[in-house]
Amino acid sequence: MDIFFCNKPLFLTLLVMVSLFMVASAGNFFQDFDLTWGDHRAKIFNGGKLLSLSLDKVSGSGFKSKKEYLFGRIDMQLKLVAGNSAGTVTAYYLSSEGPTHDEIDFEFLGNTTGDPYILHTNVFTQGKGNREQQFYLWFDPTRNFHTYSISWDSRQIVFLVDNTPIRVFGNAERKGVPFPKNQPMRIYSSLWNADDWATRGGLVKTDWTKAPFTAYYRNFNAQSSTTSSRFLNGAWQNQQLDAYSRRRLRWVQKNFMIYNYCTDSKRFPQGAPPECR
Ligand SMILES: *[C@@H]1O[C@H](CO)[C@@H](O)[C@H](O)[C@H]1NC(C)=O
Repeated sequence: MDIFFCNKPLFLTLLVMVSLFMVASAGNFFQDFDLTWGDHRAKIFNGGKLLSLSLDKVSGSGFKSKKEYLFGRIDMQLKLVAGNSAGTVTAYYLSSEGPTHDEIDFEFLGNTTGDPYILHTNVFTQGKGNREQQFYLWFDPTRNFHTYSISWDSRQIVFLVDNTPIRVFGNAERKGVPFPKNQPMRIYSSLWNADDWATRGGLVKTDWTKAPFTAYYRNFNAQSSTTSSRFLNGAWQNQQLDAYSRRRLRWVQKNFMIYNYCTDSKRFPQGAPPECR
């Protein structure tokens, strides 16, 4: 009985420590990221709370995480290039290295003022991609910060926007489709010029009189095996989507999805790739 009463507070303390640790991983850009290219065009300010990337005629810019992640939930708030952003692409993704790398992509394709951005997504496994899905957003992503997340475990990858799932890439290894589960990934982001394809398929070019173009980042948060395995045994696990989230996912796919490789029969005349079926 004595032991029981002694251990209970200890157990509670440990529990609090675990949850504190997970919250405390909320980021500081100086601590968690390296500015990798574009010189002064990539900037961290407000004591590490805010990061910006910009693009001008000479160069874009980018950053990457210091840590690598193998499974986890990664949240970042982005405020995209405002005004006439046609021709610009803001890429935000996870990637491992090498010719057989895995990659989980968000790419934001800019547009002329008042016209909708396209959110382009893709998943590479063992160096092979070609799994694009594209969406319009249900808000203007340049007015405010919105949260873009990747939640990834050994069973599935979930892409989320403001906590609404927009895409799920399930583990289809039993159908012979490789799944990213062995190679740790870093977080990368870059802002660059892609006016040869980004806006209306390359028809609309970047208006350099509007440069520099700037995107902002804040409130990075990562929960993963690498940040919490010291406390929690075993691999990090996603929460399964509940009924509400599955409904939201269907709502997005029905109303905002504008391209899905799974239903592109011109591209896959032999039938959709196995993970789609
Ligand atoms: C830009 O706006 C046009 C016209 O509304 C639209 O067709 C296109 O999908 C939009 N987005 C991009 C990135 O081209």
